[in-house]
Amino acid sequence: MKLAFIIDPIHQLDPCHDTSVALMEAAQILGHEIWITQSNWLSVVEGKAWAILQQVELDPIQLVDGRWIAANPWYQLSQRSFLSLESMDAVFMRTDPPVNDAYLYATYILDYIDQNKTLVINSPSGIRAANEKMYALQFTNAIPETIVSADKQLIRQFVEAKGATVLKPLGNKAGEGILFLQSGDRNFNSIVELSTYQGRLPVMVQTYLPEAKEGDKRIILLNSEPIGALNRLSSGSDFRNNMATGGTVAQTEITPREYEICTQLAEKLRQDGLIFVGIDVIGGYLTEVNVTSPTGVREIDRLDGTRLGNQVIQWVEQNLTNKKLK
Ligand SMILES: Nc1ncnc2c1ncn2[C@@H]1O[C@H](COP(=O)(O)OP(=O)(O)O)[C@@H](O)[C@H]1O
Ligand SMILES: [Mg+2]
Repeated sequence: MKLAFIIDPIHQLDPCHDTSVALMEAAQILGHEIWITQSNWLSVVEGKAWAILQQVELDPIQLVDGRWIAANPWYQLSQRSFLSLESMDAVFMRTDPPVNDAYLYATYILDYIDQNKTLVINSPSGIRAANEKMYALQFTNAIPETIVSADKQLIRQFVEAKGATVLKPLGNKAGEGILFLQSGDRNFNSIVELSTYQGRLPVMVQTYLPEAKEGDKRIILLNSEPIGALNRLSSGSDFRNNMATGGTVAQTEITPREYEICTQLAEKLRQDGLIFVGIDVIGGYLTEVNVTSPTGVREIDRLDGTRLGNQVIQWVEQNLTNKKLK
């Protein structure tokens, strides 16, 4: 197969941590061609999506004494070619958030790929439908008590009723802009004004789940099936559990309640073409559905001895075979 990955500039990726690299590496080991591009290198010409692509060859990372070690350099790039994305068997959209105008426009360009010819993971319309914070709200049995608003009065009422809450900007990732907010906070007005840009942008305010101290679990879903999980613990100096804020990772199991949450999501994710997804669960509550560039595969593979990337690429292979049989 020929696979294209839309990623951030490759020199910015960490081969020992980034799931995009894990997926590309699995594809290479399984004998496929890997091409990379960036969201700002996409075009529409005569009604079809094209991209400046470079073929990439990776030097796979190695597990040494329980740590991933990468070669330096860890990739080699070919010359650039301008190719139709329909010349690929699958395209992985893996640019990191924020989902800003540039991101959204890239998804509109990806709409000009015929899904019968080339599988786009995740579906561009699915990515647009699924704001990573807001998407969870429809699963009312799975989420903690939550409001989304730019209205200071409403936010104040909610915070006073709940005591301790977490405020989240709707478009960020990796713990950015996440604030602990409790009733009586002397900075309450300023926090809400800054976060909502003076009432112009809504934010999410959610009951604080004390179970966050025991971890924020990342569960990776492939075609709506959980295939692996990872627990993230906060560093002593921060309440946030994100890896990017110094959190540490630990091996974990998926509980019956978490399987049940996955079942609640399954049909909707399939409808929206959200094939490769990472959900966050704290104390048995769904807090986030990551659809842009969910990560965790390198850490799960290291802790569990799995190769989740292989499962993803084999699923794409199977999908292609089924399509040809039709
Ligand atoms: N309801 C909550 N209760 C307690 N902590 C939370 C809650 N929601 C988020 N957090 C903390 O904030 C971190 C980031 O939250 P999340 O919603 O996953 O956003 P993102 O990872 O995109 O920044 C979590 O790892 C967790 O530590
Ligand atoms: Mg998260």
